[in-house]
Amino acid sequence: MLTERLILTGDETQDKPLIQQAAAIIRAGGLVAFPTETVYGLGADALDSAAVRRIFLAKGRPAWDPLIVHVAAPEDIHRYTHDHSILTAKLIQAFMPGPLTLVLPKRECISDVVTAGRDTVAIRIPQHPVARALIRYSGTPIAAPSANKFGRPSPTTADHVLQDLSGEIEAVLDGGATPMGVESTILDMTTEPPTLLRPGGVSREAIEAIVGEVRVLGRSFEEGESLPAPGLSARHYAPSARMLLCAPQPEVFYGALKDALSRYAFVGAMRPDGWRLPDSNRLRVFEWGAWGDWATLAQRLYLGLRALDGQGVHAIVCPLPPEEGLAGAIRDRLQRAASE
Ligand code: TXA
Ligand code: MG
Repeated sequence: MLTERLILTGDETQDKPLIQQAAAIIRAGGLVAFPTETVYGLGADALDSAAVRRIFLAKGRPAWDPLIVHVAAPEDIHRYTHDHSILTAKLIQAFMPGPLTLVLPKRECISDVVTAGRDTVAIRIPQHPVARALIRYSGTPIAAPSANKFGRPSPTTADHVLQDLSGEIEAVLDGGATPMGVESTILDMTTEPPTLLRPGGVSREAIEAIVGEVRVLGRSFEEGESLPAPGLSARHYAPSARMLLCAPQPEVFYGALKDALSRYAFVGAMRPDGWRLPDSNRLRVFEWGAWGDWATLAQRLYLGLRALDGQGVHAIVCPLPPEEGLAGAIRDRLQRAASE
């Protein structure tokens, strides 16, 4: 199969026929990758089990790991889930559309293939105009995991999607780099209090301001165990290189790089602006962005990990952001990448 790259301009009238073409593929049971505000998704008609099965095949994703359903409006959340709580209504009003996914009791029409046999469904309303137009033109909810091969970093550009899935999906809507760069926050509303399953674009602090204290999961699950969020298995994205996380101080970073160079033939550095580097022709550097500018660092995280991994380094040294806000989402992804 030849994967078609549908290049968008950002101009609504010019892009409309391309997004409609993609919507026709979705309606016909095909697979289309598309940009959201977080990362690229690999979409199929969520009400077509055969189409959804193809997502698992293309990604190489185990059948026990359920998908997020993407819808256009709050009414659709009520159409596919059973939830009438005030807290859910408040969260929808505060953060949707946006990078928040809610886990809610599912209705019959959402098949076991999407939810991996669970009686809950993860659902979100993306904010990206291309994702929104695609859902509208398709006239159906779109099931979509991140559009990477299982075990690879989530894609933040159409090039990343094609690196992983070229020849295995019908098309990718190329809307440029995704603005946030880390996946949505996932909140399980079926527990009391709600459980934060994955930190992301909407911070825990912002959620707690609305629903009160939430439960946060530890990260001590083993692959294949029955998990509250299956994708929470510690080893999620695992680069081929060894991830070496260090305290976020320039001297510590420098020391960690020196040490890595004494142990590994080729070393990668996720380098904050201006932080000192040892002098070595065995060092590969990704210029990450200004430390503390979490929006930029989140947006460029997977780009950097892919770039360094692609240069064949044996270890990647990276300073670890603090736990609060968007920094916490970056920290979570790095810790998962580093766990064995
Ligand atoms: O930002 C995002 O959320 C992106 C874009 C494309 O929307 N999607 C994404 O999907 O990151 P994915 O499949 O890579 O991650 C979804 C996570 C998985 O860890 C999965 O286990 C969890 O959501 N999940 C899905 N349905 C669930 C459910 N019913 N209960 C608990 N966790 C669920
Ligand atoms: Mg993923």
